[in-house]
Amino acid sequence: MTLKDKHIVLGVTGSIAAYKAASLARLLIKAGAEVQIVITPSGKEFITPVTLSALTGKPVVSEFFTANDGTWHSHVDLGQWADLMLIAPATAATVGKMANGIADNMLITTYLSMKAPVMVAPAMDLDMFAHPSTARNLDLLRSYGNIIIEPAAGELASHLIGKGRMEEPEKILSVVEDFFRKQESLSKKKILITAGPTFEKIDPVRFIGNYSSGKMGFALAEECARRGAEVTLIAGPVSMKINHPNITRIDVESAEEMYNASMKAFPDMNTAILCAAVADFRPSRQYTEKVKRGEDILNIDLVPNKDIAASLGKIKKSNQRLIGFALETNDEQTNALKKIVKKNLDYIVLNSLNDPGAGFKYDTNKISILNRNGEKKDYALKSKQEVASDIIDETVG
Ligand code: CTP
Repeated sequence: MTLKDKHIVLGVTGSIAAYKAASLARLLIKAGAEVQIVITPSGKEFITPVTLSALTGKPVVSEFFTANDGTWHSHVDLGQWADLMLIAPATAATVGKMANGIADNMLITTYLSMKAPVMVAPAMDLDMFAHPSTARNLDLLRSYGNIIIEPAAGELASHLIGKGRMEEPEKILSVVEDFFRKQESLSKKKILITAGPTFEKIDPVRFIGNYSSGKMGFALAEECARRGAEVTLIAGPVSMKINHPNITRIDVESAEEMYNASMKAFPDMNTAILCAAVADFRPSRQYTEKVKRGEDILNIDLVPNKDIAASLGKIKKSNQRLIGFALETNDEQTNALKKIVKKNLDYIVLNSLNDPGAGFKYDTNKISILNRNGEKKDYALKSKQEVASDIIDETVG
């Protein structure tokens, strides 16, 4: 019984995939969980509360009050009872309300009162899923620490083909089981993560930077924290937000600042994962006034920055682990192996710019992980959340 004694609030919303909530509830119960269903008014148009309560053995909660006797259903109590809230299926409307705190039904008030982690399995038509507002709202939910179970691609209820179909109940069950299995697996571990780009100032308004979004590093921080680790996240200039009690975030701008913060934090750490795209060079001088346009060529001399990974590699003790990233455009494996040795890393995560959908800016990534013996494991194209989980499984344990 993988979910024995786990209390799960299953939120059901008004999508055609609501019929799958019945199988999902059954699977969760068979795995040992106690399931309390909270359904939205439009969810009830797609599946009857009677079906769901017959499966869970508990009355389905939908309204703030029971109409006949005026009993109040406490969303606050549900928030404290649950070990997990799982919203499956989650419509675009519910995702939008969750992202923006629009508490106009029992499900959203329960979400806002929730003390436990929250998982969201979106279900909608492909164009709704692809709309920038949906993407933004899902990003907001990620930044609140919610786990998004990405929809699958395939034929949708509209007969259109694309991404938006709620993940199958069996797959959702395995995500839930995995979550509980790993929940405390990194407790008492201290993990340093660097993320994002660095900006190297030219003058008060200009800098040299790169396209790193920080998404991969933030996903790693989130996943380590979720598994119980104490995370120090040193972030370059990114727009991402993160919100987890186990994460201490230190914002920096330049490679020099990232170097100083990393060197200070590392001696206390069990592991460091260096995901940042650190600028290798900075302008040799920074102009104090804005550089004016002129007719002559403007030369900016660049001097090398300190290599954070190599510097941590030099002070690394035998009980500490160091994991680096590499983005190579040619001779990927040979170059990555050289970096492991040069920087005294234990593992290197290899991103390839040759893979469509992988690398900077995308929400997906395709990686290989190499160890010091040159052994290489290749992974499929996955969401950065899933990639983070693979990296931690393989390198941190
Ligand atoms: N890195 C670092 N400090 C730097 C440069 C890189 O800590 N000044 C880290 C990165 O965070 C990454 C690893 O080193 O984990 C490899 O980064 P990469 O830019 O691929 O390596 P470089 O040594 O800069 O090699 P290249 O000449 O290919 O740019």
